[in-house]
Amino acid sequence: MMFTTPLMTLISFIVSFFTMVSALPVSVRDVYVPPVTYPTAGTVWHIGQNYNVTWDTSDPPVNITNKYGMIVLAKGGIALDYDSPLAANFSILDGTHEITVPNVDPDDDYAIVLFGDSGNYSPEFTITN
Ligand SMILES: *[C@@H]1O[C@H](CO)[C@@H](O)[C@H](O)[C@H]1NC(C)=O
Ligand SMILES: *[C@@H]1O[C@H](CO)[C@@H](O)[C@H](O)[C@H]1NC(C)=O
Ligand SMILES: *[C@@H]1O[C@H](CO)[C@@H](O)[C@H](O)[C@H]1NC(C)=O
Repeated sequence: MMFTTPLMTLISFIVSFFTMVSALPVSVRDVYVPPVTYPTAGTVWHIGQNYNVTWDTSDPPVNITNKYGMIVLAKGGIALDYDSPLAANFSILDGTHEITVPNVDPDDDYAIVLFGDSGNYSPEFTITN
């Protein structure tokens, strides 16, 4: 029997929404989503410690639509709390931003999502005590 939770329905809606949006032509605006360079696969972060998330700013477009960045923690490929990001409102051209690891359940499937115009995921890494 097929069993669908409201959460799964919400997730599939969000996924199809973003698939639809990303399929639209983006000729007018410069969508700028620099790749995350740290953390990498194999990174281990300790709860309560500070780390510098870094990203590659070597090839920015001339006109950036949204020059403010936001960093959100993700687990299992799903971004967690957008309302309390690890960091927000820094320049997307900075290339680095210091964050403090929140008190989350230790696991090995965390990722950082860097938002500019859209979100870019880091590889999955470990958060431990
Ligand atoms: C992050 O980078 C800044 C600027 O380079 C540096 O002052 C700071 O100590 C770094 N923080 C950590 C946790 O490495
Ligand atoms: C960037 O924006 C300025 C001002 O709106 C415009 O004059 C210029 O043509 C734009 N450049 C590019 C490469 O889109
Ligand atoms: C973001 O930073 C800009 C420039 O420092 C500031 O004017 C603006 O009020 C900030 N926005 C928020 C939501 O903190």
